[in-house]
Amino acid sequence: MAVTFKLNGKTTTVDVAADTPLLWVLRDTLDYKGTKFGCGVGQCGACTVHRGGVPVRSCQLKISTLAGADIKTIEGLSPDGSHAVQKAWEELDVPQCGYCQAGQIMSASALIEKNPNPTDADIDAAMNGNICRCATYIRIRAAIKRAGEIKRAAGAVPASGAKPGSNPGDGAFDGTAGRPRSLFDAAR
Ligand code: FES
Ligand code: FES
Repeated sequence: MAVTFKLNGKTTTVDVAADTPLLWVLRDTLDYKGTKFGCGVGQCGACTVHRGGVPVRSCQLKISTLAGADIKTIEGLSPDGSHAVQKAWEELDVPQCGYCQAGQIMSASALIEKNPNPTDADIDAAMNGNICRCATYIRIRAAIKRAGEIKRAAGAVPASGAKPGSNPGDGAFDGTAGRPRSLFDAAR
């Protein structure tokens, strides 16, 4: 079945079995290896991409449902790693093994796009379902707040939502107070 959709801004056509999941199309047909296979059953978030700006699990999307869809993968987030979330991730040294991180970044970038000043509760709600076996959750939360700062400083979006310091943990992990020295420190 031939399906045409937009991938990272480019019109793309693939001809595969109708029930092929998008994740397989990305990795095996189109050689976009940034999006990862974790569980294959919609439970881990490693395969997260954007569909029309909304984070979705690509392992659960049949290609037959994607005619005309607007899909963005980690490769399409920025041409040079300059997206606010990518910069914050690098600044706070978020990844451990890295396997889950493309999915984490895609969920985080969708959140920051619609809410550049998220509370802890906003972050927990948006990132629920993105599993990290290395338990980088505390640094992920800090990096999302830092990405919001970067985005607000760039003037792209006015600040809204929580005021600085209103979130539990802001003093310890507000993106300017440094990152945890270890996962043990982070967990305390
Ligand atoms: S591989 Fe898709 S949610 Fe785990
Ligand atoms: S960094 Fe290893 S699974 Fe998340």
